[in-house]
Amino acid sequence: MSSANQQTLVLIKPDALRNSLTGYVLSLLSEFHTGLRFAATKIVRVHTLLAGQHYAEHQGKVFYASLIDYITGRIHYSHEPEKQRVIAIVYQGENAVNTIREIAGPTNPHQARDERPGCIRSLGTLVPFYDKNGSEAGTRMENLIHASASVAEAEREIKLWFRPNDIPPSMRIYPTVCSTEHFYFKDNRLGTTHEPGTVCLVAPGDSVWQSDYEILESTLQADGVSDAIGLVAAKYLINEAE
Ligand code: GTP
Ligand code: MG
Repeated sequence: MSSANQQTLVLIKPDALRNSLTGYVLSLLSEFHTGLRFAATKIVRVHTLLAGQHYAEHQGKVFYASLIDYITGRIHYSHEPEKQRVIAIVYQGENAVNTIREIAGPTNPHQARDERPGCIRSLGTLVPFYDKNGSEAGTRMENLIHASASVAEAEREIKLWFRPNDIPPSMRIYPTVCSTEHFYFKDNRLGTTHEPGTVCLVAPGDSVWQSDYEILESTLQADGVSDAIGLVAAKYLINEAE
C-alpha cells in the first residue's frame, strides 16, 4: 500500500469533550496543519464490547478496568450518560500514522509536558484510581486523544470502528466484499435467521470488509461461536447497544 494513502484512527476521548477541547484538538489536526484529509468521522457511544476490543492488548493489566471506564465516558460523564461519547475520525494521507502521533505526543501527559510542550497530550492529566478496598492502585492517563500506533494497528482499528460505507468509495484502502447472506447476532452467537432479540449485522448486498466477512463465515461454520466474532459485531453494534 502506498504511504500517500496511509490511514490512521483518531479518537477524541471523553476528557477532551468534557473540557471543551474538541475544537482546539480539531484545529491542531486540521487538514491545513496536518496536510492530511478527513476520510470518515462518527460520534460513538462506546459500548463495553467495543471498548474491550479496542483495548484488547491491555486486558489483564492493573489499569484495564479504569481505562475501559475512561473510554466509555463513565468517568467524565458519570451522571450524564447521554453525553458519554467519543468522536472517531479517520485521517488519510502521506505518513498519516506518524504525523498524527507526533501532534498527539507521548502517552503520559506529564512526560508530554516535559518533552513536547504544546503537543495535544501535554494538556492531559494523571488521575489516581482505587481498588475495591479504596486503596490507590495506580494512576489513569487521561490523555485526550487516541492515535493509531502503527499501520497494522490503524487497519485493525479503522475496521473495528468503521463500516466500508462510512468512508467514501474512493478513500477506502482495505478490500471489501458484497455480502450474499444475512448475519444476525445475539449473546455472542451468530446466525442466519432472525430470532427475537437478534440484531442484523449484515444483509445481502451490504459492503463488508473482506477480513470481517471471513470471520463471519468461519464463525457460522463453527456453529455461530468464535473468539473473533466480537471484533466484527462490536462495529455493527455501534450506537445500537449500550
Ligand atoms: P492510545 O493512543 O490511547 O492507544 O495511547 P498509546 O498508543 O500512546 O498508548 P497504549 O496504546 O500503550 O495505551 C492505551 C491507553 O492505555 C493510553 O492512552 C493510556 O490511557 C493507557 N495506558 C497505557 N499504558 C499505561 C500504563 O502503563 N499505565 C496506565 N495507568 N495507563 C496506561
Ligand atoms: Mg495505542
